[in-house]
Amino acid sequence: MNSAKFFIARTFALVQTIFLLAALGAAQPAFAQKPSDLIRPGDRWLDNRGIQIQAHGGGIIHLGKTWYWFGEGRSQTNDPQKKYVACYSSNDLVHWTFRNQVLAIADPENLGARFVLERPKVFYNAHTKKFVMYMHLDNSSYKLARVAVAVSSKVDGTYTYVNSFRPLGLESRDIGQFIDDDGSAYLIFESRPTHGFYIAKLSGDYMSVEKQMSFVNAPLEGGAIVHLNGLYYALGSHLTGWRANPNVYATASSLSGPWSEMQNIAPPETNTYDSQSSMLIKVAGSKTTSVIYVGDRWTPSALWDSRYIWMPVEIGDGKLSLPQPQPWKIDVRTGVTTIVPDVKP
Ligand code: DGJ
Repeated sequence: MNSAKFFIARTFALVQTIFLLAALGAAQPAFAQKPSDLIRPGDRWLDNRGIQIQAHGGGIIHLGKTWYWFGEGRSQTNDPQKKYVACYSSNDLVHWTFRNQVLAIADPENLGARFVLERPKVFYNAHTKKFVMYMHLDNSSYKLARVAVAVSSKVDGTYTYVNSFRPLGLESRDIGQFIDDDGSAYLIFESRPTHGFYIAKLSGDYMSVEKQMSFVNAPLEGGAIVHLNGLYYALGSHLTGWRANPNVYATASSLSGPWSEMQNIAPPETNTYDSQSSMLIKVAGSKTTSVIYVGDRWTPSALWDSRYIWMPVEIGDGKLSLPQPQPWKIDVRTGVTTIVPDVKP
């Protein structure tokens, strides 16, 4: 082949390659991005489809090797007349697979189109083999103050709405969940008239709230509890709507108290690094036990775009503190968490 022909052939091959690569690129949806191997607090957190995770005000349960994350599904494509709960699963707490829109309901109690369904939490009852979902149900002025219950026989199945009630006959707005090391299940709920929050044991079938364990005399919402080395740590935020505030915690050696004075989990001027508590996850590994703060950084004007602030906390001997959010990773087998310097991929 003479040099002119060789040049033309090479150029043709190059152009073909460029077209092929462009065609492959076009085959990917515009939103598809590779999920990060790190947890990047405050960044967009993408699921296996490359779509931002919709599990706000969430709750997480651990079954076998899998964690399931349930939360408010606030996608922009949702029907505005309905409220949604989404479910994701993960074996490493970093990569999350979208499982299902496990609840999509229109006004279940004639509360008006702007009814509220927030902070869903799912408990697995080993006796009945049912998954029982608790949610905060309200009207648009937050005056109903009830919990609603829905059930499913599959973790990521479609949950059937059952009823709504005031736990222990008390007003209940934000709810949290706590499952103790012995498997017993508790609902945490904020009750405004009494200026505090309750920790209450669920009934044997989890379909109702049976017994008050503690009344914590501090008006706090976003309640979460972890049990570590014989001490219970209860965490919550003050009541400032969607605006972040300095979240606080107290400790007790029994769920029935007495509880210590509340203390800040982060420098108060950071307003908990602009987040609000939702859950504390305990990861007991072969080398260590880590506790992860799960918080929401709300964007009230675009709730779907609210971000997640997850960070391993420094915890022990009655102290709990939330470090400044930065990228980190976790090995769920060993329980070891590692802060990774902020170098974007
Ligand atoms: C704070 C609560 O924690 C949220 O779940 C939500 O109810 C907002 N208040 C509404 O203002």
